[in-house]
Amino acid sequence: MEIITSVEEMSEWSRECALNLKSLGLVPTMGYLHEGHLSLVRKAISENDRVVASIFVNPTQFGRNEDFGVYPRDPGGDCAKLEASGVDALFTPDAETMYGAGYETFVEVQHLSLPLCGQTRPDHFRGVATVVLKLFNIIEPTRAYFGCKDYQQLQVIKKMVRDLNVRTEVIGCPTVREPDGLAMSSRNSYLSPSQRKRAVCLYEGLRKAQALFMTHETDVEKYIRVIAETISIESGTNPEYIRLVDPDTLRDLSAVHGPALAILAVRIGQTRLIDNALMS
Ligand code: PAJ
Repeated sequence: MEIITSVEEMSEWSRECALNLKSLGLVPTMGYLHEGHLSLVRKAISENDRVVASIFVNPTQFGRNEDFGVYPRDPGGDCAKLEASGVDALFTPDAETMYGAGYETFVEVQHLSLPLCGQTRPDHFRGVATVVLKLFNIIEPTRAYFGCKDYQQLQVIKKMVRDLNVRTEVIGCPTVREPDGLAMSSRNSYLSPSQRKRAVCLYEGLRKAQALFMTHETDVEKYIRVIAETISIESGTNPEYIRLVDPDTLRDLSAVHGPALAILAVRIGQTRLIDNALMS
C-alpha cells in the first residue's frame, strides 16, 4: 500500500489509474478505523480495479467546542488494517496541505444541512461537503463509499454531487453494528463501560419503531414516544433530537404512509451518538 501525503503525488497516482483505464474507488475517513469503515473498504475493493482510502481529521467540520483536539487517532493500527484489507493507496494529508494560509472557499448544501444534526452543529455539513469535494477533485474517483450510519451526511454529499455535476458515483453502505446492536463509531471509545452498556438503548428504540411500522401505525407521535421512552429508561441519556422524516428530503413526516426514516442523536454523558433506521 502506498502512503501518500501530498496533493500532487495523489493526483499523479490517480491520473496513472485513469490512463490505464482502471476504475478507482475512494473511502474517505477520519481514521481510528473499525469494522464499519472496513466494510466500505471491502465493498470498494469488490467494485473497483483500484482503491484509495483517505484519513484526515477534518478541522472545518468540528465546532469550536467539539472534540477535534481529542478525536481518537491510531495511524499505525489504521495502516495495518488498510494494508491487510488490500487497499492500494492511503491518502493522509496534513491540515496545512488541505487548508493552507488564506484558505477561504466552502461548499454549502443549503437546505439539507439545516435540520437534525445541523441544528446543533451549524457549520458541520459545510465542512464535510468542502473536504469531500476537495478529496473528489484531488483523487477523481469513479465511485466513493459512505456509511448510512451518517445518513444526513450521505444525503448532503449525494445532493452536492448532483448539484455541482461531480463525476463520482456516491454509494451508500449499510450500518455495521456491535453484537448488541450499537452502531460502530470511532466515538464509542469515549464511553465508560457502564455508558457503553446503556448506549444500546438507541438501537433498541429504533427496533421498537420498526416493530410499530410493521403494524402499519401511521401516528408519528407514537413512534417518537416509543423511542424516547426506551432511551429515557437508561440514566444519563439526553436525547438531542428524535425524529421521523422523509428519507430523501429529511423533512418531518406528518403521518406514516410510506417509507420513513427514524433518526436520532443522543448524548450519553459528554459523548454524542447518532443512529437511524430506514423503514419501508
Ligand atoms: P468517519 O466518521 O471516519 O466515517 C468514515 C465513513 O465510515 C463514513 O462514510 C461513515 O458513514 C462510515 N461509517 C462510520 N461508522 C460506520 C458504521 N458503523 N457502519 C458503516 N459505515 C460507517 O464520516 C466521516 O468520517 C467524515 O465526515 C468524512 C466523510 C471522512 C469527511 O471528513
